[in-house]
Amino acid sequence: MSESTINIIYISIEGNTRSFVTGLQDYAKTQHAADESNPLITLKEITEQSDFAIETKPYFAFVPTYLDGGNGVDNGVKELMTNALGEYLNYDQNSRYCLGVVGSGNKNFNDQYCLTARRYAEQLDTDFIADYELRGTSVDTERVYHVMKERLNACTQ
Ligand SMILES: Cc1cc2nc3c(=O)[nH]c(=O)nc-3n(C[C@H](O)[C@H](O)[C@H](O)COP(=O)(O)O)c2cc1C
Repeated sequence: MSESTINIIYISIEGNTRSFVTGLQDYAKTQHAADESNPLITLKEITEQSDFAIETKPYFAFVPTYLDGGNGVDNGVKELMTNALGEYLNYDQNSRYCLGVVGSGNKNFNDQYCLTARRYAEQLDTDFIADYELRGTSVDTERVYHVMKERLNACTQ
């Protein structure tokens, strides 16, 4: 039995992120069944109602983008809807355990595509490790799973 698990903390306002991480969890189960060294996935959804908790294990943060105004380059933009996740990740020493941020958004937003995730990675002093659009595709699921698996292995060795 593998010791390692991929822990994911996410927020989802309209369900796209929830759909993608649930698909990732299912994919992880098939990978683990084929080879138990492949990590399973646990999910924690943060909402406006979530209590703060102290994280004690490494995790990946999944961050959709909701911004109002600006163009992400030379104008200010205001973060909407996702602030509860940002506050949770910055609570106590939670940011220390973040192994990376995965962003999602819509490419129609051009330079603002996945901007919240890129900002979170900088604030949390970690890396922006992957992105996908909307609910993602099966190719995205495989790609993001393997990025997280490699990063987890590198951090736990
Ligand atoms: C009001 C609003 C603002 C958005 N702003 C951005 C944006 O600035 N950049 C981006 O990449 N996507 C933006 N999106 C797209 C969302 O990030 C995308 O639909 C995402 O999949 C939503 O995830 P969720 O369903 O888990 O909440 C915006 C969507 C809405 C409804």
